[in-house]
Amino acid sequence: MLVIRNIGELVLVPPGPVPGRLMRTVERIRSAAVLIDGERIAWFGPETQSNIPSDCESIDARGGCVLPGLVDCHTHAVFAGTREGEFVQRIEGKSYTDIAQAGGGIRVTVEAVRRASEEELVETALPRLARMLRNGVTTAEIKSGYGLTIHDELKMLEAVQRLRSIQPMELAATYLAAHTTPREFSGRSDEYLDLVFSDEVLARLRDERLAEFCDVFCETTAFTIEQARRVLTLARRFGLRAKLHADQITQMGASTLAGEFEAISADHLEKIDDAGMAAMKRAGCVAVLLPGCSWFLGVEQAPARRLIEADLPVAVATDYNPGSSMVEPLPLVMSMACTQMRMTPIEVVVAATANAAAALNRHDRLGAIQVGMQADLVVLDVPSVERWLYEPGRNCVRVVMKQGRALVKPLG
Ligand code: NIG
Ligand code: FE
Repeated sequence: MLVIRNIGELVLVPPGPVPGRLMRTVERIRSAAVLIDGERIAWFGPETQSNIPSDCESIDARGGCVLPGLVDCHTHAVFAGTREGEFVQRIEGKSYTDIAQAGGGIRVTVEAVRRASEEELVETALPRLARMLRNGVTTAEIKSGYGLTIHDELKMLEAVQRLRSIQPMELAATYLAAHTTPREFSGRSDEYLDLVFSDEVLARLRDERLAEFCDVFCETTAFTIEQARRVLTLARRFGLRAKLHADQITQMGASTLAGEFEAISADHLEKIDDAGMAAMKRAGCVAVLLPGCSWFLGVEQAPARRLIEADLPVAVATDYNPGSSMVEPLPLVMSMACTQMRMTPIEVVVAATANAAAALNRHDRLGAIQVGMQADLVVLDVPSVERWLYEPGRNCVRVVMKQGRALVKPLG
């Protein structure tokens, strides 16, 4: 048994998916303690000596806030190379789409990833994951999508597999071969999709547990709704649950497709329409918002308040990638959700825990403070979530606990 005592504010995030209008209703307990038995939460409540076995190992929260471990449910954290050239091009007036149409963007990272070995991908991702963990992220999703050959897509997913075995963060993998059409298939995107969505490839993903989800980038520079429908149907036959990069730059009906497919999530949604919202609501899709991406590209944010008022479960993630969101710290992106999207700090905490866990189909085990849930917890050096997200320029995380084990030890 282990106890975290002297908690200034324990944020009682309920298990996801939490519908939009309930996200602001989360309770908090002051002067609390949490009892952990092995990997799980055994008890929590107001701190009184009688509740806590006397022989317990203890962690002093020093009046800090305690919440569930963060879940970064949309990242492209395995990549090679950097793209500061197009960062400057955008500052000078080019758009993300202009750059993609001129052969830049995703394809530049594809070349770098194809040149890199699996070991190099692992080595460059490892310090990124270590920093994410220090920022309180105990679970993250990572997508392929920068290989765009069978060999290189599998290489990316095998890198994720390897990362799982050498560091403590839990990783969910997503097959994103439908990220864009590679140069060598220019004008032949259906042929490309036939290749990377063959039965043989999909069976391998399933049998070797290389991916749980299949994602498609629906966009004028990537794939059409019809192509997305076709490949998601193929992937579903092999047990891969759908996700979509939907309605980011162009409204093409991708969030409506997400509803039709009962996708676990539709992500981005900057240009979502009423039909898309209604379809997602009916299907119980999580709306994953990526404020770091719009901030980094200098474009309009997704309509978070409308999605919340429509009662959709909203999640927030980094979209960490070298092109559109070179933004690694989830707490910084959570603070952006407050200032750029007008989500309240408590809504954002639910979005980056319970609802992000739901976007990864892990809400039965992760993202909530409940007896029996996995003891993935964060102890802050500030007394409330408001005080935390008010201060995005400093890492306020003092202790990160994964499966009942403190990983980032209390400082000083
Ligand atoms: O989520 N939108 C598509 N994919 C990424 C960008 C990837 C890239 O530009 O490298 C995104 O924004
Ligand atoms: Fe993305």
